[in-house]
Amino acid sequence: MTTLVDWDEPPLFDVASGNPREIKTKEQKKPVWSENKAELIARYLRLFVFITRHGTYIDPFAGPQTDRSVQAWTAQSVLLNEPKWFRNFFLFDKSSNQIAHLRKLSREHEDRNLYIHQGDSNLVLPSILPVGSIREREATFCLLDQRTFECEWQLCEHIAQLRPGATKVEQFYFLANGWLPRSLKGTSTPEGEQRITAWLGKEDWRSFARLGSFERAETFVNKFKYELGYRSVKAWPIYQREKDGGKLMYYMIHATDHPEAPKLMARAYAQTVKPLPSIDQLSFGFNGAGS
Ligand SMILES: C[S@@+](CC[C@H](N)C(=O)[O-])C[C@H]1O[C@@H](n2cnc3c(N)ncnc32)[C@H](O)[C@@H]1O
Repeated sequence: MTTLVDWDEPPLFDVASGNPREIKTKEQKKPVWSENKAELIARYLRLFVFITRHGTYIDPFAGPQTDRSVQAWTAQSVLLNEPKWFRNFFLFDKSSNQIAHLRKLSREHEDRNLYIHQGDSNLVLPSILPVGSIREREATFCLLDQRTFECEWQLCEHIAQLRPGATKVEQFYFLANGWLPRSLKGTSTPEGEQRITAWLGKEDWRSFARLGSFERAETFVNKFKYELGYRSVKAWPIYQREKDGGKLMYYMIHATDHPEAPKLMARAYAQTVKPLPSIDQLSFGFNGAGS
């Protein structure tokens, strides 16, 4: 097993390596910090759109997590990306405060199509975007940025069916790590257990709760791969800064059918701590096929 950094947790680039069909990407030398998550996603989508030249962005948990005056949040970062080739944004949130932020964002980006919906995304999204509602040729990315247990597994199943044809909508799924064991152990009520069951899908959540960090991520990688049929699924670790303990806070699980996409994600992950390349450098870099 290779080492990403000298901390206790194993790197997760190996999670999918047992499968000979998995697309190989370069080993990463530097970790991405938790506060750079929005930047990682924006950078990845900048590379993505250079291939697709258009795009639809779906964000079922879209409201800003952090203080917006300090840090950009993901939906905002993606809207600010240049070139502005992502045209359609489906943004959902259950909180009315968060919807107010999203509506403000919409007013700031009237050149794009922003569709904002309030409610529980597990219920609302399938009614707004039913199975097969995304055109086969529409390049589409879905961020599932939950805090812990908010995204029910059936929403991931639904998103995998949004687009007809061989290439499913890409999913980038947040899996909590640092605080997950505590959240699982702290669940004692029937409602809490029901919530975890809906989040996890058909696995027995008590057995899942006994797994270590690596095996939990592996479980989700395998769910996206074998239950939903994604060609490549990789878990990208996101860390807390060393000064704050250096813990592996969460994984971002990237499920895609596009053979170039994992290489672009590896490139975005490696670049996230560096300054943004210019548009010219970015187009030039594609000659080397993005690994
Ligand atoms: C972790 S935050 C999203 C962070 C954001 N992506 C960012 O980059 O800052 C999760 C958001 O999901 C919303 N939320 C939680 N449960 C939800 C649900 N069932 N349906 C829709 N939104 C939900 C919360 O109100 C919150 O705004």
